[in-house]
Amino acid sequence: MPEISTIYKISIIAFTLFFGASGSGCPVLECWFVQEKPGHGGGFSVPMSQEKSLMFIRTEAFSEESFSRLHPPADISPSRIYYVTDPAGTFCSAALNPPKGSVNKPKCEINPFMPHASMVRWASALTDSAQSPVYLQADWFSVAAQGLDQQLTLSNIMRAPSASKEPQVILSVSSKTPVVRSRLGEAVLLDCGFWVDASSSVHGSGFSIEWRYQFRGEGRLVLAYDGKNDRFAETSETGADIDITGLYETGNASLVLEESQVRHSGTYICTVYLPHLLAQVAVDLEIVEPPSLSIYPSPLPLLVPGQVLVVQCEASGFNPHTLDLSWEFSGADGTSRSLGQGSVTGHRQATDGTFSQSSRLELDSGKLGLGRGGEVTCVAKQPNMTRRAAATLNVIGVSAPSIEDSMAMVAVALVLYGLIKFLSWTFCASDSSETELKDKKQK
Ligand SMILES: *[C@@H]1O[C@H](CO)[C@@H](O)[C@H](O)[C@H]1NC(C)=O
Ligand SMILES: *[C@@H]1O[C@H](CO)[C@@H](O)[C@H](O)[C@H]1NC(C)=O
Repeated sequence: MPEISTIYKISIIAFTLFFGASGSGCPVLECWFVQEKPGHGGGFSVPMSQEKSLMFIRTEAFSEESFSRLHPPADISPSRIYYVTDPAGTFCSAALNPPKGSVNKPKCEINPFMPHASMVRWASALTDSAQSPVYLQADWFSVAAQGLDQQLTLSNIMRAPSASKEPQVILSVSSKTPVVRSRLGEAVLLDCGFWVDASSSVHGSGFSIEWRYQFRGEGRLVLAYDGKNDRFAETSETGADIDITGLYETGNASLVLEESQVRHSGTYICTVYLPHLLAQVAVDLEIVEPPSLSIYPSPLPLLVPGQVLVVQCEASGFNPHTLDLSWEFSGADGTSRSLGQGSVTGHRQATDGTFSQSSRLELDSGKLGLGRGGEVTCVAKQPNMTRRAAATLNVIGVSAPSIEDSMAMVAVALVLYGLIKFLSWTFCASDSSETELKDKKQK
């Protein structure tokens, strides 16, 4: 009976695919195992060693049978192969699991981790009583991973019974928004969430949350919540908040900035403290604001051939300061070309932190071949967007004057005629009044 055997085969394939797929939701993660080189007694520049390492990850504990089916690559030392149990599947995001053979790989680093009591004020209460519990006597690791396409940044603390190579994730802190871009004045959400293994003895003994800001060596505390005492630390920051209900219910430690300003650009570090443990992730906030552009003089005066007209493009209110200003010209015949950058001034910074800059261009109708005129455009390019402003330029007196040009010339001629008339009349009048005065004096 060939039909039955085919159905049998198909169902076996389907069965294998199903279980293969359900197991492969969690990645086999290549990581660098980075630690201090042994035998160097501290100091400022401690040499580090870096070894290839591999983590097989499951949401359930590994069975004897599952070990036999794994085939670690030969170029990785067996002592650096880890069999990780991750009950919440924190590692099992698609961002850490690229399709087979893809060039882009997630970044991952493992370090040995030393549990220690935290010294910061809002976390010190966590370790008041506990005197280095037995639970801590194990091998601890900290894993930092960055997913593809800036979709995830993750920091996990794992515990393995001494020398077992089978760590379990105890604390996971992650952000789905490692890079946030915002316009000025918008509300900003900096995502951060954490998870604690409910079966571990650190679960339920309190936690603390800290958000720090860092930019070019400057740092400040944005917000700190002491979960043990249910208290916020005093900070000078205003307009920054976390949702306490979400914090307790879903481990949502996201920071909300009510209204983004230029001074908010920088790196925000979300740290979660448990007794003797901590993990942190960084979120970059970029405030991206396009410039307002204006061209001066406005409107552009008529350009007479042989004359040079200086036009200026003023870009203001933009951030960050990287801006490319250039000029374009599109003629009446529809052709378009670049007029170069002009002479660009340095940046000026306004009190709100935004920048302004301008470019000056000399329009010489003869040299530049502007024909009868057209549209002069100032182009401002930021890394992510382009803004334009245009002004109409009319060149008069070129070989075949248009009706508008002729009318303009007639108008100019009429005005000149009127002016001459007016002037000669005024001069005559004053001449005659002077003669009258002289006449009076003589009398
Ligand atoms: C976390 O909380 C913020 C508000 O504080 C909310 O906007 C966001 O949607 C929450 N995230 C999740 C994953 O629930
Ligand atoms: C910048 O470009 C990225 C893609 O490269 C896009 O996801 C993002 O929304 C852009 N940001 C702004 C402010 O336009």
